[in-house]
Amino acid sequence: MLKMLIMGPAGAGKGTMSELIASNFKVAHISSGDMFREEIKHQTHLGLQAKSYITQGLLVPDEVTIQMVGNRLKKDDCQNGYLLDGFPRSLAQAEAIEDFNINAVINLQIDEHLLVDRIVFRRICQQCGTIYNIKLNPIENAEICPKCCGKLYQRNDDTYEKLMVRLESYREETKPVIDYYRQKGIVYDVDAGQTIDDVYKQIESILKNVAEEETK
Ligand code: AP5
Ligand code: MG
Repeated sequence: MLKMLIMGPAGAGKGTMSELIASNFKVAHISSGDMFREEIKHQTHLGLQAKSYITQGLLVPDEVTIQMVGNRLKKDDCQNGYLLDGFPRSLAQAEAIEDFNINAVINLQIDEHLLVDRIVFRRICQQCGTIYNIKLNPIENAEICPKCCGKLYQRNDDTYEKLMVRLESYREETKPVIDYYRQKGIVYDVDAGQTIDDVYKQIESILKNVAEEETK
């Protein structure tokens, strides 16, 4: 069974690649960021707890995040494998899932200067969640989803200033998590500065090998 993580800085393409991986490898896609945004939208207690951190570009405290993701991993759709996107992001979070025996960590590597356009021009469909970029991969109408005609929106942490804060927290808190998994020998580095198709091709060939090893 594939139990995977996808890691990388804000805008590296975790969400974009997760959509492709989840549909081709038939695993549940669990994005902690998406889960928090849903909670905020519905103004739940958890959403209210997370909101001020997310709008500042800071990490939500570990105990809140670990509980949310832990509950999600117990759901039925995770029994055939899963892909965690944006979790773990601190060593405490990684230790909390130590017993899950993750078998692959896709590490998206990219020059930080490429991230600005990816973040500032990102738009997301309110209805189906598809991720777009109105500068790098222009669509006919920058306000309407070409797939489902839903309205496109911009995340409120997608500004240049907030990106700088998010990148700082990535360097300080999340990079040590990659080293933690590297010591276990399960990190696969991917050049995320290429086109969406070319980044996915690298990931697909890595995961096909991992899946094959798992069935042995
Ligand atoms: P989260 O939602 O995880 O945000 P993030 O890590 O900052 O990453 P993004 O979602 O911004 O980028 P992505 O890598 O998914 O890129 P995407 O595929 O969209 O977290 C948000 C916040 O929630 C955090 O700041 C924190 O506050 C909180 N949080 C979440 N998890 C937490 C945790 N575990 N602990 C504590 N707090 C937590 O792509 C970006 C753009 O680039 C798009 O426009 C896309 O179309 C484009 N693009 C993608 N790939 C390519 C390519 N190859 N070529 C050209 N364009 C591309
Ligand atoms: Mg994302």
